[in-house]
Amino acid sequence: MTAPARVLLDHAFFPDLVEELVGSFEVTIDPPVGQSARLGEARAVCTLLSSRVDQAFLDAAPALEVVANFAVGVDNIDLEACRARGVIVTNTPDVLTRATAEMALALLFACARRLVEGDQLCRRGAFDGWSPDLLLGQQVAGRRALILGAGRIGRATAGLLSAVGLDVTCGGRELSGERLDAALEAADVVSVHVPYTDETHHLLDEARLRRIGPTGIVINTARGPVIDEAALVRVLDDGGLFAAGLDVFEREPAIEPGLLTNPRAVLAPHLGSATITARRGMARLALGSIRDVLDGRAPAHRVA
Ligand code: 8YV
Repeated sequence: MTAPARVLLDHAFFPDLVEELVGSFEVTIDPPVGQSARLGEARAVCTLLSSRVDQAFLDAAPALEVVANFAVGVDNIDLEACRARGVIVTNTPDVLTRATAEMALALLFACARRLVEGDQLCRRGAFDGWSPDLLLGQQVAGRRALILGAGRIGRATAGLLSAVGLDVTCGGRELSGERLDAALEAADVVSVHVPYTDETHHLLDEARLRRIGPTGIVINTARGPVIDEAALVRVLDDGGLFAAGLDVFEREPAIEPGLLTNPRAVLAPHLGSATITARRGMARLALGSIRDVLDGRAPAHRVA
């Protein structure tokens, strides 16, 4: 009898779902998988975004057949190197689309209505009675939103923003250079949904952030480095934007200190897909991809 295939997981995920693999494969949970002593024997790995799958990782994993990334974004993986080695890479789209779009909406309302500032004021005992001009925010209905990235999550966010009354424009790759500059100038709310690539690194730099203007709100539920975080701090500090709602950070998990002290920055610790529904769906897809590849079937969401 041949030995069961070795599967290495970056996280325990949902035990009942992991259990489904245990019957057929030898499953080890040993994060981070890139440093696991079992990497050399693994035929399949399930990686979190925090695991970088590069040439060194692949060199340490000669038996590897599949990397199932527990995320829709695959910027932690060198796809070219995987292709060159014949290692299949899969991701987890669709199941987290709604959750991430809802997070973008949550951040928008938190920014527009200054919810975090209000929460902090209450907690420090500074709420001393209703006042006509206490923490005045903005109504979002009627404002113009620009969605950067016309993929699944961008389109779902566009739908939610339209439903609450914003006038939404969606832009994909065609929106670059002067066209992007003009679209930013026309927008009141900008929500980022592009994947992180060399092309999208610091897509929103200081000059572009300033084009949105002092009443503008920027939301990022995609990847931190799409926005120049140090520049964002400068722009928020001098009132060049009204607020920013960030679920992702440039040097995650580190956060630019200036964001921590700026009351107009609403910060979330990368919670876009953090609902039980989405995360179970992601685990099901990632673990299902491992089973498919090891059983010789084509996985549902192959990206390399
Ligand atoms: C989380 C995400 O990063 O899917 C993505 O690309 O950014 C989020 O879903 C993921 O849960 C962490 O692995």
